[in-house]
Amino acid sequence: MKHLLKLLDLSTEEIIDLLNLADQLKYELKHGIEHHILKGQTLGMIFQKSSTRTRVSFETGMYQLGGQALFLSSRDLQIGRGEPVQDTARVLSRYLDGIMIRTFEQKEVEDLAEYGTIPVINGLTDFCHPCQVLADLQTIREYKNKLDGMKMCYIGDGNNMANSLTVGGLKVGMKVSLACPEGYRPDPQVLEFAKTYGDNFQIVSDPVEAAADADVLYTDVWASMGQEAEAEKRKIVFKGYQINDDVMKSAKSDAIVLHCLPAHREEEITAKVFEAHANEIFDEAENRLHAQKAVMVRLMSKK
Ligand code: CP
Ligand code: NVA
Repeated sequence: MKHLLKLLDLSTEEIIDLLNLADQLKYELKHGIEHHILKGQTLGMIFQKSSTRTRVSFETGMYQLGGQALFLSSRDLQIGRGEPVQDTARVLSRYLDGIMIRTFEQKEVEDLAEYGTIPVINGLTDFCHPCQVLADLQTIREYKNKLDGMKMCYIGDGNNMANSLTVGGLKVGMKVSLACPEGYRPDPQVLEFAKTYGDNFQIVSDPVEAAADADVLYTDVWASMGQEAEAEKRKIVFKGYQINDDVMKSAKSDAIVLHCLPAHREEEITAKVFEAHANEIFDEAENRLHAQKAVMVRLMSKK
């Protein structure tokens, strides 16, 4: 594994290896066992969109691994004034040991990896959010003790989260069921991939139907970053695409609820369900730290 650009690029074995390492690093952190595996290394973090979790967990994670992280806002970088990503990649490769980038187009992340000579980590694009899904899978395994055969149901927009959850879930042996309105379904590339998993993948319009016997329920905002202008229209389109009591009743009685955050209460999830499952949701947020440290170790460790 040279980069983390999208989960489609990873084998099942590579994903499981990252989850195992994430568990180990979490254990070590909790028990005060120092792991300065990336001593003296620098991660550049380019942000073209807002972030709380990704920014803080990467920066803290790099510090815990003995290295440092540089926050690079696109507002301040020349990239924001039109310097080509090909040149930015070659320049940053001379200073840094790794780059994390959060941006709009997936192509920008792929270009950075193609033209640079250091590992590139996708910290969210319009297409996918692989770091989030590694943390999600780590969390599911913590609560359910296994991934194989578990049913995950995603309700809402067929966005970057839906794309990555579908690919990641299927690759680790989960059953994936989606409820998305017509016209708001996942990327065609993801649907093509999912089709090869036969009955393990299902996409319907009805959230209660999708949630039947689910072990994991997942949702995300109705309007993602960059879609602010459509937010009002989306409130109409997505009305009912919500994790609420009806959806909970359809799932298994011990189902866990996850949300990548930030959450909009009473839109994609009711405040009642959110608070009843807050432990799972904030464990999931914490696991961003551990899962991303595993990614950085696998990509950047010189040993
Ligand atoms: N879930 C997630 O990526 O959060 P941030 O946008 O705060 O980084
Ligand atoms: N779909 C959301 C995820 C945020 C972590 C967005 O792209 O804004």
